[in-house]
Amino acid sequence: MTTDISHGLSATSASVSSKVNAGEITVSNVSKSYGAGLFTKEVIKDCSFTIECNKLTVMIGPSGCGKSTLIRLLAGFEKPTTGDIKLGGKPITGPGRDRLVVFQESALFPWMTTYENIMYGPRARGEDTQENRDQADYLLEKVGLTAFRKKYPPQLSGGMQRRAELARAMINNPEVMILDEPFRGLDCMSKELMWEYYAGLYEESRRTNFFVTTDIDEAIFLADRLLIMSNVPGQVRATIEVDLPRPRRLAFVFDSERANAVKMEALSLLHEEAMKSFTGGSKAAADFVEAYSRRSSKAEAG
Ligand SMILES: Nc1ncnc2c1ncn2[C@@H]1O[C@H](COP(=O)(O)OP(=O)(O)OP(=O)(O)O)[C@@H](O)[C@H]1O
Ligand SMILES: [Mg+2]
Repeated sequence: MTTDISHGLSATSASVSSKVNAGEITVSNVSKSYGAGLFTKEVIKDCSFTIECNKLTVMIGPSGCGKSTLIRLLAGFEKPTTGDIKLGGKPITGPGRDRLVVFQESALFPWMTTYENIMYGPRARGEDTQENRDQADYLLEKVGLTAFRKKYPPQLSGGMQRRAELARAMINNPEVMILDEPFRGLDCMSKELMWEYYAGLYEESRRTNFFVTTDIDEAIFLADRLLIMSNVPGQVRATIEVDLPRPRRLAFVFDSERANAVKMEALSLLHEEAMKSFTGGSKAAADFVEAYSRRSSKAEAG
């Protein structure tokens, strides 16, 4: 689902804009609790990190550690209980046209064609200009949907819908794109295809992107910087610079020693977090620990 909180954005150029973003997001000592009294649940605790300009920052963490909660805080849908979040040095006090959030669920309008869905943002702002129409055509081509421009969402596969969703977000040219597991639920092959499309779009625009996932391969393939979250209450446990060359291609990323080293480092931290949650009785954590142990013994044997 794409939530357009970016009404009134300026028109885009005929290629994905490469303008340098002014906005860096800083999250400082943020905590977030729900409920009151005995029923208070602390979901985020004293969490600090930076989303650097013009980089793709990926956050990975166990299910339920507070990633979507953080996204709602960054989007300005909710406020932190304590601490502050700033964009370009100014506090985030609510939704703004400088941030655009893409959620997992599709929010394409079923009564609009792919092209009309992509043009929704510019048209809503009264900007049905030749420049924006060219940009829509360009994005359709970039996400491989030119032949599907006149099709309606139910006529598209799940992967195609996600690609249309990305194009619909990018035409608005937000300063910061925030994505909450946008490819969750897709089959492996569609997912891998999505990674290449999305990485390609990012590499061209180099706008500030914050991408949340629970998939380690997705995280490594996409990230410039990887933030590893703790178990709930969520905190950033470690930051790993993923210094793999771009453009990213599946064929070489997963063959590289560096990618494997990053993966092992990240998995070992995630394993520690899963163990904590396992001792707390989580079924998801138990599954992860079991799968990880099988993987480690296979690696040792082979
Ligand atoms: N509005 C709310 N009221 C009470 N508890 C909430 C609320 N929103 C989230 N939570 C709790 O906060 C915790 C973190 O939820 P959140 O959705 O942020 O996790 P997540 O890391 O995004 O998980 P997943 O990877 O499964 O999407 C969960 O235990 C959830 O039940
Ligand atoms: Mg979530």
